[in-house]
Amino acid sequence: MRRSIIAGNWKMNKTIPDGVALAGALSDDAAEFIDGCDVVLCPPFTAVKAVADRVAESGVDVGAQDVFWEASGAFTGEVSCEMLVDAGCSWVIIGHSERRAMFGETDDKVNKKMKAAIAAGLKPIICVGETLAQREEGSADEVVRRQVEGAFAGVSGDDASKAVVAYEPVWAIGTGRASTGEDANSMAGVIRDTLAKLYSGDVSEAVRIQYGGSVKPGNMAEFAQQPEVDGALVGGASLKAADFIGIITAMIDSKK
Ligand code: PGA
Repeated sequence: MRRSIIAGNWKMNKTIPDGVALAGALSDDAAEFIDGCDVVLCPPFTAVKAVADRVAESGVDVGAQDVFWEASGAFTGEVSCEMLVDAGCSWVIIGHSERRAMFGETDDKVNKKMKAAIAAGLKPIICVGETLAQREEGSADEVVRRQVEGAFAGVSGDDASKAVVAYEPVWAIGTGRASTGEDANSMAGVIRDTLAKLYSGDVSEAVRIQYGGSVKPGNMAEFAQQPEVDGALVGGASLKAADFIGIITAMIDSKK
């Protein structure tokens, strides 16, 4: 049985005081949900340390939204894995579609970041997902397969098992137009099949797969009830404590 995992991607939102207040509202209630589900908050870099300090000892984890693969040096504007660990992160989102579309993130860069994250002891959440045009032309499965193969190239089976893959169809992100539970489950199946071919059935069964894209308290159950879906990567609805807690409880209740 795979453990559920709900992650909140705050994107470019929240100052330090606002982020600490949100983290406090979530972590103070964490005892109620933490036994059934991993919960990860991913603030912007500036708020990572303060949020990590606020949730310390609560069981809620902290992740970053991106990382650079080099350890140190002349890379203006970048942040290394070691720096993230130092600031209190145990997770990192890699390859989010906004980074792929707006900041030149390629499968090769995703792969380098994934390897660096694992080497530093950070657990990666690898984002994959097709655009609307790719879905309409019937290439969604192939696109996602390629992204998974690219991300995991050269990663050992042991390390791969610890990763989380977030299936986030680009057309569902921030649009209010979520995928159906059935489509999300079917793509999670494609991801597992790809991992089974790269590694083994054991690895493919161990990797946790999230759905992401317009998840809210009202539709979480539809995704949580899918056998291949182990959680969600949540953007907009992770910015309000009540909504995010509603999503976590819907996840836990559905997997009972
Ligand atoms: P959304 O974003 O929940 O606002 O659609 C999801 C994401 O980008 O991770």
